[in-house]
Amino acid sequence: EKGGYDHFMLKEIHEQPDVITDTFRGRLLPEQGIIRMAGIEDNLEKFLKADKITIAACGTSWHAALVAEYIIEEFARIPVEVEYASEFRYRNPIISENDILIAISQSGETADTLAAIKLAKERGAFVFGVCNVVGSSIARETHAGAYTHAGPEIGVASTKAFTTQITVLTLIALRLAKAKGTLSNSDYQMYLNEMGTIPAKVEEALKQNEEVLKIAQVYKDAPNCLYLGRGYNYPVALEGALKLKEISYIHAEGYPAAEMKHGPIALIDEHMPVVVVAQNQNHYDKIVSNVQEIKARNGKIIAVVTKGDTQVRDLADHVIEVPSISEALSPIITTIPLQLLSYHIAVLRNCNVDQPRNLAKSVTVE
Ligand code: F6R
Repeated sequence: EKGGYDHFMLKEIHEQPDVITDTFRGRLLPEQGIIRMAGIEDNLEKFLKADKITIAACGTSWHAALVAEYIIEEFARIPVEVEYASEFRYRNPIISENDILIAISQSGETADTLAAIKLAKERGAFVFGVCNVVGSSIARETHAGAYTHAGPEIGVASTKAFTTQITVLTLIALRLAKAKGTLSNSDYQMYLNEMGTIPAKVEEALKQNEEVLKIAQVYKDAPNCLYLGRGYNYPVALEGALKLKEISYIHAEGYPAAEMKHGPIALIDEHMPVVVVAQNQNHYDKIVSNVQEIKARNGKIIAVVTKGDTQVRDLADHVIEVPSISEALSPIITTIPLQLLSYHIAVLRNCNVDQPRNLAKSVTVE
């Protein structure tokens, strides 16, 4: 049942190239320059007329929402707000019939997300679901939606659900951008073509498994760990930290890299591992200087770099290379080594990887 893997989590991490392909199937058609998603086509006018899109979710799905915020705003120029469903439902949010709520949920059963949907519907908003479990409560409560095709996710720590959520939301952003004309035709086509390369690039990122295991052996006993990223990879840092916390019970925090100097940098000494997602694009010089700041304080640097990188490699204690891709599409790739890192650390600490203490797969109570 675990397909030869020791744990469901590892199996599910390795399924990602295939399930992302499944999520693309019939939707991503680069040769024709088309993205086809019935839930979007049928409601295109609503998306185009919306004043704003609010995305409500919890946990890992909330991190996918943050990635989506950056991508939808950049590609489709529609204002996006991301809310913890648990906060949104209790704070009299500003949402009305001109708004869209996107609810993201792997299980489709999360109580707070379901309550956020009900509230948004009461206020007249159009509610769109991004769920994995077919026929789940959230899939049924929403006006329309797009399924992730991750297949059953058994490991409590979400992995393939996260990358397929980002996949669906990126397709949506590109479809809306096409309709609005907010991306040039050449950029639009380039992103479609690049989307098609993601499964192979995820496969390539998975080949870093042995490298990641070696790093895990060095840091398995660390009491704390920081994760840093900028731009599209800031939510990846948050997700990396959450994965480590939940399955290895090591205290970890994710930050946008530039926030370090506003406080967390005080934590850095020779005992602090810092995982830096350092893609060599939009903010490269900035991320290099963030890495220098950590190095100057003797922090231990584990960097996720783009293939061929030299500057961060020279500064870092350990590097994990991932294939190059446009930064907007990179979270699906950069997440892979962070999933593997948390997995290996948890296994080395003899933790119950698939069933971490105190956690349940679907949180049906608030
Ligand atoms: C983390 C994790 C949780 C869930 C959260 C939302 O690995 O699994 O944080 O992401 O409970 O669950 P769904 O997506 O089912 O609404």
